[in-house]
Amino acid sequence: MQGYIDSAVEKFRELLTEQLARSERIAKGGKAKDFTKMGKIVIGVCGGDGIGPIITREGERVLRYLLKDEIEKGSIEIRTIDGLTLEKRQELGEAIPADTLLALKECDVILKGPTTTPHGGNLESANVAMRRELDLYANVRPVNVPEENIDWIFYRENSEGEYVLGSRGVEIPEKLAVDFKVTTDAGTRRIARAAFEYAKNNGKTNVAIVTKANIMKKTDGNFSKICHEVAAEYPDITAEDWYVDIMTANLINEAIRSKFQVFVLPNLYGDIITDEAAQIQGGVGTAGSANVGDAYAMFEAVHGSAPRLIEQGLGEYANPSSIFKAAAMMLRHIARTSAAEKLEKALLICTETEKKVIATGEAENATCAEFSDYVMETIQKMDG
Ligand code: IPM
Ligand code: MG
Repeated sequence: MQGYIDSAVEKFRELLTEQLARSERIAKGGKAKDFTKMGKIVIGVCGGDGIGPIITREGERVLRYLLKDEIEKGSIEIRTIDGLTLEKRQELGEAIPADTLLALKECDVILKGPTTTPHGGNLESANVAMRRELDLYANVRPVNVPEENIDWIFYRENSEGEYVLGSRGVEIPEKLAVDFKVTTDAGTRRIARAAFEYAKNNGKTNVAIVTKANIMKKTDGNFSKICHEVAAEYPDITAEDWYVDIMTANLINEAIRSKFQVFVLPNLYGDIITDEAAQIQGGVGTAGSANVGDAYAMFEAVHGSAPRLIEQGLGEYANPSSIFKAAAMMLRHIARTSAAEKLEKALLICTETEKKVIATGEAENATCAEFSDYVMETIQKMDG
């Protein structure tokens, strides 16, 4: 046993040293791109696994339509990025194949289909690796239910917490296992800043800080403390502490849930709570997600690769709504606001008011491409 303990202690020393260096890199700060001043923006489109290539194909088609003039002029380029498939990742034993990562780093923003994360084993999730490699520290997930007055936006810390050392825990076989959760002051400060800036710029008056600081005293305790330090710079916004367990209940409490506006949370709680929130909106298939850093941003569907649909031969019936929402978030991020508004408006018409064509993953309803045609026709009508 002593051998296990010694090697775990040694490993812990390495992890602490490495994480301290990471926190120092974050503390230096980065500078976000100003998309209104860039001569050319490169959008990478990355299919992923399962239904990923099917829904991103349609996402790309809509983007090409909305950005037609700029693509012709050369101020926007849409690039297909291959190689993010489970087969290739498994064959190479790399979460993201090295050449794919290089290609991704040559883009400014990325539209990504879902990737399959195998249970157990050593292959790291491509999602988590991409968030780390591109330092996409803010996972921004809006949820809207207009008829209930729900207008939520979640700022999930996306680069550390329970995820940062996800595949590097220690184990004494058949005795015990330890995973690590790391919260850095600098990492918390930048996600808190992003949440409060959003609140300030969008007329929001309340930010809920969601932790389990009564139990995770060091990591969540610091997370909450630093969020309050940042909050002190925003006197017009109230910052409230909530524990994640009661917040889970509050989200399904119809009497109070619409009063929440902006949420800021550590990584794992953010992962869990945003699935719950998406379900309230109509399911994870209806939600888009932005992964934002200073140098890069990646936009994706909240749902997974739906291997069951593929096995049943129903992949072409996948619902692309979530990737369309992600594409709209991307358009907003790159300051193409009128294109974003058109897509958002068309989606609202197609999925809430008119609902003439629906895609549900079932063969009796429309295919992914048919639903996308409907969205495109709706946009064309708006264009007159
Ligand atoms: C998400 C997903 C990912 C996560 C998985 C696929 C690694 O659930 O984007 O919420 O846990 O972050
Ligand atoms: Mg999740």
